[in-house]
Amino acid sequence: MSSQLFTQKKQAQEKIAVLTCYDYTTAKILNDSTLDALLIGDSLAMTMYGFKDTVMATLTMMELHTAAVSRGARDKFIISDLPFLSYRKSLSKSVSAAETLMRAGAHALKLEGAAGNLTLISHLVESGIPVMGHLGLTPQFVHVLGGYKVQGKTVAAAERLKQDALALQEAGCFALVLECIPAPLAKEITQLLNIATIGIGAGSDTDGQVLVLQDLLGLNLDFKAKFVKHFLSGSHLLNESVNQYVQSVKQREFPSYEHCY
Ligand code: KIV
Repeated sequence: MSSQLFTQKKQAQEKIAVLTCYDYTTAKILNDSTLDALLIGDSLAMTMYGFKDTVMATLTMMELHTAAVSRGARDKFIISDLPFLSYRKSLSKSVSAAETLMRAGAHALKLEGAAGNLTLISHLVESGIPVMGHLGLTPQFVHVLGGYKVQGKTVAAAERLKQDALALQEAGCFALVLECIPAPLAKEITQLLNIATIGIGAGSDTDGQVLVLQDLLGLNLDFKAKFVKHFLSGSHLLNESVNQYVQSVKQREFPSYEHCY
């Protein structure tokens, strides 16, 4: 999968499935899945480190996790998030941040918002870096948005999102994440654009979907958003296995003869 395949799949009306991934072991497993792409999301600040928001993700965290995933998922298209402020200081510092993640193994980068990012996006695209946009609920703006709320609910806010989506496409983005916006608005934006839209909490009419792996597997005990579906009772199954291990140890069943040297 290359960045161009996102547009080709949109044109062919073939849905695109993206999932977050943050570590080598999981990446190795997901390399054998039918996923179209893996996202090293800055949500790793929450899922991997236990911080309360993605503002805490740093370039070093993103670099190390991108490198780990790229070592495991050798055949997947890998998108990495530019973390909070790493692309807002100057063009030169932003390009350096982008270079760090590309050299760590990313094939494309994602950044949040349109205002103030358009020149950088064009520059990165002209330099050979595919860029994915991200609109709607942009978690790096949590302190401006006042929490994790559905965006684009008023006519004015919806219009602003449509204009931003067009501006990101014009700047050269190959695809756009639409997070937590009303499904009819996501459908409208999807129809408005030539590039693919990847939804999360944006209904079923986007060109693809993205989810956080821990949410999909039912491993996230902190919070379950309305848009999340557990495809596995992961936390339950994990503890069941762990408790079986504990029981085996206590009953002197493990390690047995075949596990001994
Ligand atoms: O950081 C992340 O995981 C994301 C997805 C939720 C789109 O940006």
